[in-house]
This record gives sequence, structure tokens and C-alpha cells, in this order.
Amino acid sequence: MKNNSSGIPQRVAIRYFIIAGIYIYVSDQVLLHFVTDAEVLGLFQTYKGWGYVVVTSALLYVLLNNQIKKLSFEMKARKKAEEEILASRDELSRAYDETIEGWGNALHLKDDEVEKHSHRVIALTLQIAKKLNLDEEALAHIKRGALLHDIGKIGIPDSILLKPGKLNQEEWKAMKKHPVYAYKLLDPIDYLKPALDIPYCHHERWDGNGYPRGLKGNETPLPARIFAVVDVYDALTSDRPYRKAWSKESALDHIKKERGKQFDPQIVDIFIEELKLDTNF
Ligand SMILES: [Fe+2]
Repeated sequence: MKNNSSGIPQRVAIRYFIIAGIYIYVSDQVLLHFVTDAEVLGLFQTYKGWGYVVVTSALLYVLLNNQIKKLSFEMKARKKAEEEILASRDELSRAYDETIEGWGNALHLKDDEVEKHSHRVIALTLQIAKKLNLDEEALAHIKRGALLHDIGKIGIPDSILLKPGKLNQEEWKAMKKHPVYAYKLLDPIDYLKPALDIPYCHHERWDGNGYPRGLKGNETPLPARIFAVVDVYDALTSDRPYRKAWSKESALDHIKKERGKQFDPQIVDIFIEELKLDTNF
């Protein structure tokens, strides 16, 4: 909406000038027409001067009042329009997030164990991200990315995904494609592009021996480095079709052992501290 407030002084001055000019001209003509005596004319000129002050004061009041009312109406209309835009943006954002949850749930239909732990993994990932002072926007992308971290598995056949035993070499090769499938799925969606770090990079390793791209150290985006630690700990402490859950102590020992190998050392240190405070894990 166009802001007209800067033109108000000019508009008021022009209207004031026109109306005051007309008043002076017309009142002078009336006086000259009806009053011929110079002394009486002088007296009437004094009255007319006072009349001028009264009329122009009233005129200024009306002109300014009208402009202020108009401006106030425009500001209210603008505020309402802005609120409507924000509301529809919130609604759209909610709809997107519900869609993301739906996609995440679609994956859980294939694997019950994943669903049980998914929300705790997201919560602890966000907790560590907050410790690292990531802002609200980054946290929102991390949450979406964590929800969709294994979305690429929709491209993996159930025979591999739900196999009770260990995967053979060919099956592992197929399984390792899920981050790339996630990239292909999410990258064309503008809203989800900033959430891609976790789905695309959560199997990268600090030492560069991960997949799909073999990123090393800080080359792996921070959200994925955080998620990798939480995800592995969570996976180890959960029952899987091919093995029983590890004890918390054994899982933590494994995380510590992989500090600086599979995992970012700084993230492991924060993870250990946060784990002490988190009774859910
Ligand atoms: Fe994965």
C-alpha cells in the first residue's frame, strides 16, 4: 500500500492558500461594494482581520483533522493487510509442516521402531543446536530436516528395508542411496531446500569415510553433524529387526570411541553433557 503521509503538509498548505485567498478577495470586494466611508471601512477592515484569523484557524483545524483521519484510516488498512499476509503465511507454513509430518509418518508405517524414537531424536538435536546458538530460523529447518532425515528410504525396496538379517554388499549399496534420493526429492521444493542438510548429509563422517559424498570435518553442514551423533546413539539403543538394543552405557562408549572419527568431537562433548540432563534417553 502506498504511503501518502509525506504529501500531507503540501496538500494542507495548498488548500489553505486557495481558501484563504478566496476569503480575502471576496471579503474585500463585499466591503468595497457596501462601505464607502473611509473611517467605517478601516473599522470593518479590523473586524475582517480578526474574522480572517478565526476563519483560517477553523480552516486549518478542518484540513488537518481530515488529513489525520485519512492517514489513520490508511494505517489501519495497512496494518490489517499486513496481519492478513502474516496469517496466511503462518497458515501456509503450518500446512507445509503438516505435510512434512505426514511424509515422516508414511515412513514410520514401514518401521514402527523409527516412530517411537523419532521425536526424541528431533528434540535432542534441537537441544544441541540451541546450545550452539543457532537462530530460530535455523532451528525450524533442522526440525524439518530431522523429521525427513530418512525420507529417501521411500526409494529403497521393502525387501531391503525390512530385511530381518544383515544386508549383503549389493543391498548395502542400494541402502546407501537413500540420502541421494532425499536430495532429489527435496531439492526442487524451495520451502524444503534449506532443510536438506540432514536428509542429504546425516551419513557423512568427520574422517571423510561416510556417504554419499565423503565430506570431511566441517565440510558436512553443522545440522547433519549434530543429527548424526543423536541418530546413531538412538539407533543403537533401539531394537532392530536384526539385533537387540544396546545398553545406554555401551552406546555411549561407542559414541565416545567414534569422537573425531565418525563424529565431530565438539558435538560429541555437547551431546554427552546434554544426555546427562535428558531423562528421556
Ligand atoms: Fe539414514
